[in-house]
Amino acid sequence: MNPANIAFIGCGNMGRCLLGGLLKDGYPATQLRAADADALQRDRVSAETGVRTSADNLEAVHDADIVVLAVKPQQVRAVALPLSAALASRRPLIVSIAAGIRIADLRRWIGELPIVRAMPNTPALLGCGAAGLYAGEGVSDEEREQAEGILRAVGLAVWIESEALMDAVTAVSGSGPAYFFALMEWMENAGAQLGLSREQARLLTLQTALGASRMAIESSLDPASLRKQVTSPGGTTERALAIMNENDMGGIVERALAGARQRAAEMAAAFGDDK
Ligand SMILES: NC(=O)c1ccc[n+]([C@@H]2O[C@H](COP(=O)([O-])OP(=O)(O)OC[C@H]3O[C@@H](n4cnc5c(N)ncnc54)[C@H](OP(=O)(O)O)[C@@H]3O)[C@@H](O)[C@H]2O)c1
Repeated sequence: MNPANIAFIGCGNMGRCLLGGLLKDGYPATQLRAADADALQRDRVSAETGVRTSADNLEAVHDADIVVLAVKPQQVRAVALPLSAALASRRPLIVSIAAGIRIADLRRWIGELPIVRAMPNTPALLGCGAAGLYAGEGVSDEEREQAEGILRAVGLAVWIESEALMDAVTAVSGSGPAYFFALMEWMENAGAQLGLSREQARLLTLQTALGASRMAIESSLDPASLRKQVTSPGGTTERALAIMNENDMGGIVERALAGARQRAAEMAAAFGDDK
């Protein structure tokens, strides 16, 4: 059986990144199509990937088995509405990566098609992403596998059982890279205050973040056990963690993620039809 024809609508950062991931995985370029309103993006995709590009979304989706919506959330409605008549008989799988766009809204705009919502994050650009996926009504097992394959080409893909939890995915992994960048920034500043040069503090911080992350991923132990393992009684790590605990760092992270989830829900309402 031929691999599915996949049409990408929107080839900015994420669309290009997913296309690149599929090609790296050996997906045939002949089965991929890419549409973008921006001629520069189209030229870049053609030059980098050899995938057929188009300025016309209808042309890109005419033989598609899967349509990936990779435009900005505020652009989804305008992209989806003109496609609905053309897609009604072919009934492709729709994979939307637009943050905060709910399946009910998408169905109203693009029609009653099988839809998977995915929330990737920026490390996908390095093939190291983490994405949450939610399948709407009527998505077959084969279509779930196809959607997962697209996201897995750029990292980890985790299925979520309720759409409301996609806002929690946004709070944890969607916005997550920025939390770790902030922690790296604070550690670099603190190291510099302790007398290290900025470069020394940064190099040591970044490699420590990478090492800790790899240990946590590769170890059979959970992060709490790993933390206990490296915290000797009366030692330096214990002192630092005690100060973090006194300042309720765990509680701060909990409240920060609750705030991000709340904002994701507000944005979904603002982009949707329930204003
Ligand atoms: N970047 C991330 O880390 C990330 C993470 C998770 C989810 N996402 C989601 O991924 C989606 C894409 O994000 P991005 O960062 O890749 O955005 P982006 O770089 O702005 O790419 C979107 C592309 O779509 C084009 N476009 C706009 N209207 C169009 C239309 N009517 N038909 C065809 N193409 C059109 C845009 O052209 P113009 O520039 O001319 O408008 C742009 O080139 C967003 O919905 C975002 O929520 C992104």
